[in-house]
Amino acid sequence: MSRRPPSPVVVKLGGSVITDKKVSFSYREEAVRALGMAIASSGLPVVVVHGGGSFGHPLAKRYGLSSRASAASAEGVSETREAMLRLDAMVSASLTSAGLRPYTFSPFTLLDLEGGGGRSFLRRLIAAGAAPLTFGDVVHDGKGFRVLSGDTICVELSEMLGAERCVMALDVAGVLDDDGRVVETLGEGAAPLPGSLADATGGIAFKVSEALRMAAAGTEVRLVSGLAPGEFSKALKGVEFHGTTVRVARGVSSG
Ligand code: IPE
Repeated sequence: MSRRPPSPVVVKLGGSVITDKKVSFSYREEAVRALGMAIASSGLPVVVVHGGGSFGHPLAKRYGLSSRASAASAEGVSETREAMLRLDAMVSASLTSAGLRPYTFSPFTLLDLEGGGGRSFLRRLIAAGAAPLTFGDVVHDGKGFRVLSGDTICVELSEMLGAERCVMALDVAGVLDDDGRVVETLGEGAAPLPGSLADATGGIAFKVSEALRMAAAGTEVRLVSGLAPGEFSKALKGVEFHGTTVRVARGVSSG
């Protein structure tokens, strides 16, 4: 039997991990380097997506950008994207110093491609030892500018690459229930969503809905603290970890 290369793991580095959300333009270099080292030492092929944190979100808010098409001006969009590109340059440098070979691309350049062009391009990069790197971005969808969340990019990438696993690094230990305890498993056949989540929109509720979409398409999603590199490392390798696993129960094992 010929050995197929392992399917890449899609990794989301949340904005709340790579920046201090309370302080504008505050980059957490040590945290990102530690996560980069965990990825490098796993030896796994990855595609990395990072969020905006205190670089992207305050500007997006100032210029009226949200997940819905808006009348935001091109000027505000440029400024927001410049901040994201500055953040991306820092993330890329930290990952490089951790031993990875990041290759930054803007998500919409890829997602606009049809006929599997984006998929082959990413697969070639990964096979050549690079770690494709992208970020939550601002796009124009024909009606207006809007924020394309890094979580949604993870859904697209997981599907495009047939990823077995997506690991989302957060500033908390996973999805928390109404008493602040980590919910270990979410998804079809698991406990219902905690009440506070089922009713909320944005933030963690949006993340969980994107994770459920990935799970439904066959990608197991692991939400883990990005400030605990040991747990992040276990989540990445697919072994037992402290955090939340989102999956859809499979009736028959595919072997
Ligand atoms: C946001 O990306 C990007 C911009 C604000 C332009 P995400 O939505 O993925 O960012 P985080 O992880 O919540 O910070």
